[in-house]
Amino acid sequence: MTRRLRLWQVVVFAALACSAGTAAFSDTNNKKKNKDEPQAQKSYGRPTDPSLYVGSDTCRTCHEDIFKNFETTPHWKTTFTKKGPEWQGCEACHGPGKEHVEGGGDKSKIFTFKDKPAEQVSNRCLGCHEYGEEHANFDRSQHNINDVSCIACHSPHHAKEKQFLLVTKQPELCYGCHTDIKQDFNRPFRHRVEQGLIQCTDCHNQHGGFLTKQLRATAAQDQVCFKCHVDKTGPFAFEHVPVKTEGCGSCHQPHGSTNPRLLKRAQMNLLCLECHTLTQDSSVPSLPSFHNQSQKYQACTSCHVQIHGSNFDEFFFK
Ligand code: HEC
Ligand code: HEC
Ligand code: HEC
Ligand code: HEC
Ligand code: HEC
Ligand code: HEC
Ligand code: HEC
Ligand code: HEC
Ligand code: HEC
Ligand code: HEC
Repeated sequence: MTRRLRLWQVVVFAALACSAGTAAFSDTNNKKKNKDEPQAQKSYGRPTDPSLYVGSDTCRTCHEDIFKNFETTPHWKTTFTKKGPEWQGCEACHGPGKEHVEGGGDKSKIFTFKDKPAEQVSNRCLGCHEYGEEHANFDRSQHNINDVSCIACHSPHHAKEKQFLLVTKQPELCYGCHTDIKQDFNRPFRHRVEQGLIQCTDCHNQHGGFLTKQLRATAAQDQVCFKCHVDKTGPFAFEHVPVKTEGCGSCHQPHGSTNPRLLKRAQMNLLCLECHTLTQDSSVPSLPSFHNQSQKYQACTSCHVQIHGSNFDEFFFK
């Protein structure tokens, strides 16, 4: 029998717990934004009157450098759209430019992005980008909720990293704000993020999703870890239950650890004893009495070798 608690089930539980929590929270706290739950954002309402727009070629006459760079970026494509001028080129992001031009470059007559509230910035981008699984949940991301806008990470005109128009490349981009996370990846045992073998965004959706910690899931909506560690997926004839129910994090530190195999505990037996006690007092099987915790019995996986699950033995011996 497999007892798989699929991620979507976890999500449903989390969502229920969360909405119960936020109801209580908002009673006592009337902050601008509720930190627990996303709120529908007002999107940017594009003015549609064509006479307000001048077209990118006009912008070029005074902003030659910006235009030349713009031509080399993916946003150049927007100038070919058959949709109205409000979806094209410079003005798709900066808004209608006629008044700005007639004012001889009056800065107060154009949306500059500079010092604008994060929400206003992101809404301009989301007008085109909120479709598709990757971006549809930006509203609920911790980034959005904490006023980190698209242009904290992306720069349409001055990208240091051309691909994806990034302000700078990973992981430096992320360390820029998550300074405390850097030390995780400097531990003796860690995922080789610093060496570029895997990226923060392999595990996290920086644009937001449904899981806590902005974690990604596999296509089958399982823990993201299975994406690469396919051999741990099973299903096994004999599952080690916590692998699926409580997740990899019940034994491993996902970023990095001072212990081999990214384990949470320096001593293997103490890790197992967190759940398997020496006395029978829970639903988890207790240790047989001959497991006397002498040296021999401390290295649990020297006997229970298939610790993530086995097709051959209920005690994971093979
Ligand atoms: C994809 C959205 C987008 C498009 C398209 C776009 N801009 Fe910008 N523009 C921005 C953002 C965001 C900033 C703020 C600075 C930054 O983060 O790069 C900016 C800043 C500027 C600035 C301020 C000076 C500077 O160098 O930052 C000027 C001038 C400007 N844009 C002109 C233009 C012109 C001209 C075009 C068309 C050729 C254009 N923009 C197309 C988003 C856009
Ligand atoms: C007639 C020349 C002219 C044209 C045409 C023009 N601009 Fe400007 N633009 C200026 C000048 C001058 C400034 C002010 C520069 C300054 O004060 O630093 C400016 C400033 C800006 C800024 C703000 C830069 C900042 O430092 O904050 C943006 C954004 C901008 N223009 C976008 C556009 C867009 C988009 C178009 C096309 C719709 C456009 N401009 C067309 C002359 C022009
Ligand atoms: C916390 C940083 C961060 C924020 C905030 C962010 N992005 Fe990204 N975005 C990235 C990174 C990093 C990548 C590249 C991912 C990769 O290398 O696979 C990316 C990729 C993209 C891509 C190209 C790949 C794709 O999946 O389509 C688009 C488009 C994009 N972002 C748009 C946006 C928009 C629009 C916003 C705001 C609503 C935004 N991003 C906010 C970091 C960020
Ligand atoms: C008018 C629609 C439109 C707006 C507004 C817009 N984009 Fe885009 N964006 C596009 C299109 C089209 C592409 C190219 C997609 C492709 O090549 O498949 C693109 C591509 C991108 C990419 C991917 C670059 C790559 O290398 O693949 C990023 C990142 C991005 N946009 C960020 C932004 C940000 C940040 C904003 C707001 C400042 C923004 N966009 C506003 C239409 C838009
Ligand atoms: C401009 C600053 C900034 C940048 C750059 C940035 N973040 Fe964040 N991030 C934040 C803030 C602020 C929060 C919310 C507060 C917190 O949890 O620290 C957050 C939250 C998160 C969370 C959720 C944490 C939780 O407890 O739920 C993850 C995961 C995350 N960021 C990953 C990334 C990744 C991956 C990158 C690089 C692609 C990145 N961040 C880049 C500022 C940033
Ligand atoms: C191998 C997958 C993986 C990679 C790669 C990864 N993370 Fe995480 N990260 C996780 C998991 C899983 C959690 C949740 C841990 C928990 O709930 O205790 C997490 C938690 C976080 C948090 C929440 C705070 C915390 O410490 O719990 C932040 C912020 C974060 N990661 C940022 C990053 C950044 C930045 C990078 C790249 C430098 C990165 N992560 C790379 C899997 C990963
Ligand atoms: C994008 C692919 C990828 C994802 C997603 C991923 N890993 Fe890994 N993991 C690797 C690679 C590659 C290695 C080998 C690292 C090396 O050789 O430096 C590794 C190594 C490990 C190791 C150490 C193996 C050893 O022999 O020491 C553990 C434990 C581990 N991962 C657990 C996890 C957990 C838990 C998650 C989910 C939070 C996860 N991984 C997500 C790619 C991934
Ligand atoms: C019940 C605790 C536990 C859970 C839950 C768990 N692991 Fe492990 N894992 C271990 C132990 C203990 C080792 C070390 C085995 C050894 O060294 O003999 C290990 C080793 C590993 C290794 C390196 C050796 C190998 O077998 O490839 C990887 C990779 C790994 N685990 C990934 C994962 C992933 C991915 C998950 C979630 C799907 C997960 N683990 C869940 C206890 C656990
Ligand atoms: C997070 C809690 C947890 C941790 C940590 C944990 N286990 Fe388990 N283990 C369980 C649960 C729950 C079961 C299944 C109980 C059941 O089938 O009813 C189980 C089952 C087992 C079984 C099979 C017992 C049987 O009767 O089928 C063995 C053997 C085992 N674990 C060994 C270990 C070892 C060795 C470690 C340390 C590397 C470990 N466990 C760590 C929770 C845990
Ligand atoms: C020298 C080999 C060996 C080592 C080392 C070892 N075990 Fe066992 N384990 C066994 C044997 C043999 C059984 C009994 C299988 C049976 O009942 O047929 C067993 C059974 C178990 C069971 C199942 C109990 C039940 O009644 O269902 C658990 C749980 C368990 N061991 C946990 C551990 C933990 C935790 C460690 C490390 C502290 C450990 N084992 C170390 C050989 C070992």
